[in-house]
Amino acid sequence: MYNSKIIGLGYYVPDNIVTNHDLAKIMDTSDEWIQERTGIKQRHWIPEGSEDTSAVMGAKAAKIAIERAGLTKDDIDFIVFATLSPDYYFPGCGVQIQDILEMPTIGALDVRNQCSGFVYALATADQFIKTGMYKNILVIGAEYHSNGLDKTTRGRGVTVIFGDGAGACVLTRTEDNTKGILSSHLHSEGKYAEKLTVIGPSIKHWVPEILNSTEEDTSYFPYMDGTFVFKNAVVRFSEVIIEGLSANMLNAKDIDLFIPHQANLRISQFVQNKFKLRDDQVYNNIMKYGNTTAASIIIALSEAWEKGKIKDNDLIVLAAFGSGFTWGSVIIRW
Ligand code: ACO
Repeated sequence: MYNSKIIGLGYYVPDNIVTNHDLAKIMDTSDEWIQERTGIKQRHWIPEGSEDTSAVMGAKAAKIAIERAGLTKDDIDFIVFATLSPDYYFPGCGVQIQDILEMPTIGALDVRNQCSGFVYALATADQFIKTGMYKNILVIGAEYHSNGLDKTTRGRGVTVIFGDGAGACVLTRTEDNTKGILSSHLHSEGKYAEKLTVIGPSIKHWVPEILNSTEEDTSYFPYMDGTFVFKNAVVRFSEVIIEGLSANMLNAKDIDLFIPHQANLRISQFVQNKFKLRDDQVYNNIMKYGNTTAASIIIALSEAWEKGKIKDNDLIVLAAFGSGFTWGSVIIRW
């Protein structure tokens, strides 16, 4: 069995910054409310007329990651793409990456696990490498949320949180079993699917039904029971971090950098306090980007790496919780 390790990282966010003050001009909210509840100051939203989409942003991030890995697109054996906001209902974004980057006809897989999407995607890619099936895998997380949000006061409980962006990494085979991804831990609890969801359009509630609805149908906007999600998130984050550390006979003191899914700064701070982590042991960037769902961990990992916060042999813990509910952790020895 091989191990897999990350050898290239990249991210891309659209230039257009939307501050909390900008949102307060279009809905009944305030910078104070958003910062106090979520820690978010601004997010990047794809502007009207831009050609960016989840796949296009993912391709931009992927190009950077491949170049930093010292590889070319022809060295990649497989693509795993995580998103909840694909360009098409089907096919998934992975095949678009194969096309945009003009790659050989390699396999491409989409992962539909929302905020845990990148953790699931990384864990999946790791298995393909461990068994020896593939050598170099491109793993992407990207989201184009802004076009699907309710930008009125009605949607404020959800809309202020989300941002657009993409991140990517190249995972490669290593024969050093003490390095790279040490383990991954994945969970789900589908009975809470409708606590954080977009109900329509779906095959059971298709477009004509929405268009012909006599009452206002908002099923195509995200719905979130924020308080319920928050309460579950803090519990599941903690559990899955402990599970990951225990599996490797480690404890919280061993963590060099914890990169949580950037759902809400208050969730990250709760987890930080629970594990008694210092500020320099936790990486947060939700203040700048909001919650970019499947892109959030990989954007944060890329940014932390660019800032020199990740050194050889560091213990990196990734953890996520989100819609599904799904949650998971990945333990990495860099
Ligand atoms: N501006 C001003 N007021 C607002 C806003 C806003 N943007 N949004 C909601 N409010 C109001 C509500 O209407 C409510 O008013 P009321 O008391 O008069 O009814 C009040 O503020 C409190 O609303 P809550 O929803 O109870 O606020 P809460 O403290 O729970 O914070 C939040 C909301 C930030 C969304 C929080 O619940 C949260 O972060 N939840 C977890 C999010 C998360 O982790 N998601 C998972 C990942 S996302 C994914 O997987 C796709």
